[in-house]
Amino acid sequence: MSEWQYKTLMHGGDYNPEQWLHMPEILEKDIEYLKKAHCDTVTLGVFSWAALEPEEGVYRMEWLKERIDRLYENGISVILATPTAARPKWMADRYPEVLRVNERGERNFFGFRHNHCYTSPVYREKTRSINMELAKHFGSHPAVKLWHISNELGGACYCPLCQQKFREWLKDRYQTIENLNRRWCTAFWSHTYQDFSQIEAPSSRGETKLHALNLDWKRFVTSRTRDFLEWEIRAVRDAGSTLPVTANLMYDYGGLDYRSLTKPLDIVSWDNYPTWHKKEEWRTALDCGMQHDIMRSLKKAPFLLMESCPSSTNWQGVSKLRKPGMAKAAALQAIAHGSESALYFQIRQSQGASEKFHGAVIDHYGGRDTRVFAEVTQTGEALLRLGEVAGSCCKAEAAILYDWENRWALEDAQGPRNDGLYYRECVQKAYNGLRRQGISVDFIGQEDELEDYRLLVIPMGYLLTETFAARVREFTAQGGVTAATYWTGIVDETDRCYLGGCPHGLMEVFGLRSEEIDGLYDWETNTMLARPEAKVYGLASQYVCRNLCDLVRPDGAETLMAYGEDFYAGYPALTAHSYGKGKAYYICADAEEAFYMDFMGALVKRHGLRRPLEQELPEGVEVTERIRGEEAYLFIQNFRRTPVEISLPENGWKLLYGAQTGTLGAFETVVLKKV
Ligand code: GLA
Ligand code: ZN
Repeated sequence: MSEWQYKTLMHGGDYNPEQWLHMPEILEKDIEYLKKAHCDTVTLGVFSWAALEPEEGVYRMEWLKERIDRLYENGISVILATPTAARPKWMADRYPEVLRVNERGERNFFGFRHNHCYTSPVYREKTRSINMELAKHFGSHPAVKLWHISNELGGACYCPLCQQKFREWLKDRYQTIENLNRRWCTAFWSHTYQDFSQIEAPSSRGETKLHALNLDWKRFVTSRTRDFLEWEIRAVRDAGSTLPVTANLMYDYGGLDYRSLTKPLDIVSWDNYPTWHKKEEWRTALDCGMQHDIMRSLKKAPFLLMESCPSSTNWQGVSKLRKPGMAKAAALQAIAHGSESALYFQIRQSQGASEKFHGAVIDHYGGRDTRVFAEVTQTGEALLRLGEVAGSCCKAEAAILYDWENRWALEDAQGPRNDGLYYRECVQKAYNGLRRQGISVDFIGQEDELEDYRLLVIPMGYLLTETFAARVREFTAQGGVTAATYWTGIVDETDRCYLGGCPHGLMEVFGLRSEEIDGLYDWETNTMLARPEAKVYGLASQYVCRNLCDLVRPDGAETLMAYGEDFYAGYPALTAHSYGKGKAYYICADAEEAFYMDFMGALVKRHGLRRPLEQELPEGVEVTERIRGEEAYLFIQNFRRTPVEISLPENGWKLLYGAQTGTLGAFETVVLKKV
């Protein structure tokens, strides 16, 4: 592991000079423009394999060296990518095994990207050679700051080599086939295996209903991808480069368990492409904020915004232009949540193929008197002003459990609502409620320790390990506040239902048992009515709930709200229970967002979580704090199209960026520093 040095906030983005080798003069123009826009970093080499190794074993590093040298002379740093996310045609033609096989067992043709097998010995050997070649040439070049491994790792390969690895992986995990049969519940539908060699990956031509198989296949895909990532890193290390390493992750990506995948990385990075202006911008901002926080939580450390679009994103349903101020606000939001960079895809717009209409810093016109270029320049100015923020990070007292394995298991389950469980929405509502108070939120997995937190939220913790349940008991007993929702503690790691009542391992903590769960039709609602006991929480008298209603039998829990309708009218809809020195709340139904706004706010205040600003925030205003020791930076951002009145603290804070006028204009940001 090499440490990432936080010194400045980086500004720049993906740059593909290999697309412009026939116009070498363009480099000087690009450099001039980069400097004008205060860009100090570019990412090179993301898909350059064919230019770097035009024939097998023939390496062409000169063009890249010239460009890296020239950039360096001009004060521009380089994030250097390994080119393995797309491969040269000669390779696919000579060694078909490098191409991916789909879940139906068909080998793909050459093309696209992410179309390679992570197991193929040939692909591994070719990857090792090109990575070592790059590392030998540039692994200690003073311009190069960071390795960018591959690009947006994703997908899976179902070739015979990968299937064999899957069997080995299972053998390692379960030791005996009897054990696997028992853990997977294969007695169901006569699925019993006699030997590991019989097992096949899930496929629409075969098995898709054995949930434990599906779950293990997903775990295996993560493990295979991580193994390949580690293989790539080893190559640059073996060639002598000690530079830190990242890999760029994707928005809400469900294909890989990012918590495991990012273990070998020195710093996490990700690519953010929101559909701005589709709904109220502050809603999109909450969605982005949640992703930033998920990324930051993977290492509980600053991360990088590796890609974002300065203008319109051409692969979305509608290529919407960013309204003035939006791109800058989005960049500063990333910084507020712990990013050390605002980087774009891409610097110069490509001339052909599928991304020719993707927004870029320099478009086909080629001048810098454009609206987009002006805003990129303003963003660069802001980042320069905020440079000292680098190295600080958000610090959270509240944590939300957000787990890939749980997500996979939830998505696979049949029942209690195949027309939509709304897991992500449930997580987002809890997050929005906490963020409304301006507090930072970490997203944790079941292997994380809880001692840094005061409040733990478990939204639909369906797959809940015994170990985590024990940790929650300890956390609550020691004075922590735990709030869980319906459909928690139902299955174990191999998707077997727990016997003896749910939420498994937590019935004593919540003082109740979930007896049944009602799935509601799309058009159905129920109500949650406040009882006098809810008064101290300042809740409204009534909220609407939909989709899922858990019917619980209290055993010590106090009922704060009760259902208003159906045969379970009067049954608990929200409960509270003291456990040891702590408090445990159980939210029985899929409540509307207003409930989460009020209830999370009440928990924050009642249980004394520190709010960076002790005031109610107008809807659409986001407050985010970065801390370093005694120093604190407060980002206040208006994500509305109209100005808002907001009085910001003056004593103890100095203005670092923006204007403190009592009004925050549309998409405007103010940054205060604690003095
Ligand atoms: C992804 C990729 C980039 C580019 C952008 C376009 O994030 O990493 O190479 O294709 O999408 O939005
Ligand atoms: Zn394969």
